[in-house]
Formats: sequence, C-alpha cells, structure tokens
Amino acid sequence: MRVPEDHWYPVLDSREVRRRPLGCERLGRRLVFWRTSDGRAQAHLDRCPHLGAALSGGQVRGDRLVCPFHGLEFDAGGVCRHLPAVGRAGRIADNMALKGFPLREAHGLLWLWHGAPRDVYPEVPYFAELSEGWRYGTVTADWPVHYSRAIENQLDVAHLAFVHRTSIGAGGQSLVDGPHVEADRRGIRVWVSNRRDDGRSPHSAAQLAAASAGTEPTLTLLFPGLWRLNIRPRLKNVIAFVPVNERTTRYYLRVYHRHRNPLIARPFEALMGIANRFILNQDRRVVVTQTPADSAEARGDRLIGTDLAISQYRRLQAELLARPAERWQAAGR
Ligand code: FES
Ligand SMILES: [Fe+2]
Repeated sequence: MRVPEDHWYPVLDSREVRRRPLGCERLGRRLVFWRTSDGRAQAHLDRCPHLGAALSGGQVRGDRLVCPFHGLEFDAGGVCRHLPAVGRAGRIADNMALKGFPLREAHGLLWLWHGAPRDVYPEVPYFAELSEGWRYGTVTADWPVHYSRAIENQLDVAHLAFVHRTSIGAGGQSLVDGPHVEADRRGIRVWVSNRRDDGRSPHSAAQLAAASAGTEPTLTLLFPGLWRLNIRPRLKNVIAFVPVNERTTRYYLRVYHRHRNPLIARPFEALMGIANRFILNQDRRVVVTQTPADSAEARGDRLIGTDLAISQYRRLQAELLARPAERWQAAGR
C-alpha cells in the first residue's frame, strides 16, 4: 500500500493484543501480533516461511510463536529456533526466518514502523498536552475507504451544515469564516468557524488568523494520520487513522475528557461514544461514495478556497510520498 514511509503508524489498540497470536491486515500486509512472556508486543508477517501457513492460527509457547502446520518455532527476532521434523539435533537453514517489524506501545496504541530499519527511531507522534490528567473512551470503526479520503474528511470545514444537518451541523451554519491554515512537516493546524449566511462576506483567512491569535487550533493533524478536534478546553476528539489496505481504513476515535470520578467518566465516555459513532456514520455515508478512492489520484477534484486544509494535506502528502521524512527534514522543511 502506498503511504509515506519512515513514519510510525498506529495499527491496533493495545488492549487488542494479548499473548495469543492475532492476525490482521495493516498497511496492505497480513501481519501477526503477539506478546512474549515479558508482555512486549511483537509484529511479524503472518506467513510461515516454510509452506506459507498463517502463523496467527498457531500459538505462543514461552517466548516463541509456533506455526500450526509443522510446529516450527520462531523467537521475537524472527529466528527459527526449532524445527520438529529434523529433531533437536537437526540443522535449521538461515533463511527459515520470519520477517518482523519495529513496534512501539504508547498512548494505549501499538505503532508499527513503516520504512527502512534504523538504529535510532523517532518518537511516536502524539499530542503531548493529552498525556497528563486526561481520560478517554474509544470507538472503533472500519470504513471501506482509502486512508487519504478518510483524513481529508476530518479536515473538511464546509460539510457540517449538510452531512451533519441533524447533529453537530444543525442550524444551517453553512458559511465558512477562514479557514486559517498553518501547514508544515509536523502537520496541519486549522482555525475555522461556521455561521449562517446573512448576505455578508465570510471573514477572510487573515481576519480569522488575527481573531484567533494565541488560541488552540480547531483541528490539528499530525502526520501521517493523527487528528484532534478541539471541542472545548477540557474536551477533545482524537482519531488515530489506521491504513488497513487500499480500500479499508480503521478509525480509533477517542473522546478525551477530564472527569476523574469513574461514576461520571464511564457513562460520559459511553454517551460520547454513541454520539461520535452517530456523527461518524453521517460522514461515512458520503465518504464511501467519493471517487477516485485515493485522493492522490483525484486530479479532477475542483477544490474551493475553504478547502485549504485539504489542499495543504494533498501537497504535503505528495511530498512525503515522493521522499522519505528524514531527507525531507534534512532539507529544512
Ligand atoms: S508451514 Fe509453518 S511449519 Fe510448515
Ligand atoms: Fe464530518
């Protein structure tokens, strides 16, 4: 699957991976996730190098992943440590090895390195201000859409009054003030407001920039696919976009809040989860119909002025696809 290399991609909620192997598709590859006895998560290609069986159908024994077909055992490094048919004294060929992927566990998610291996990896991208004092509830959704369209939908500031007419877009506030957009290699920050069209011109990007100076952006995207909506100072939505394959994107949508009492926090998270799922389904109905699926191929799209965040996303995404992040950063961008 064609997505920018040299990035950490969120791939699973930490809680989804236990000791026993879990098979799933991510970034267009069949992968198996499992944990060694120390609890560390591992990711390997879900294909046994012997005769190609799925290792996710096998089991974890000690610190080894065991193939269900002929019992080959692999360690966390992907090295085959036991080949039952040749016995303990038998020789195992060096090429009987399993391809593994660098993995990190942070912010309740598993992150897979997509790109060339390196000695020192960068930190996983996240919103630093959400690490202390916040709680969150998560909603998961799989959409039959390309990753790029899924992300652009969350940078789209002109659809609220239409797609969400019966929810967050009620009131016919179809006019877009701004948006003011800042975009660089760290991501995209968008300041925007919507109001009813009373015949006066919308505020320009410059006016909105002046009016919102020093305030938090309404929308923030961190590359490659982590998004935050600033609802209120103590209430945010975050989406970790997971590229599954060319036709599927998984959403981990979290509501972040600061209610400490679990008797309030849990029902609040449940209610927000229901509301967020409803709102997301309103988007889904439209986004699944967009053609072409991959926005990188959508040269026929006629973007309008208020699509500035989307056009910036396309520009930066194209740059990231053309050259890895490291060289891009080295170029001082
Ligand atoms: S296919 Fe895995 S051990 Fe034979
Ligand atoms: Fe939406």
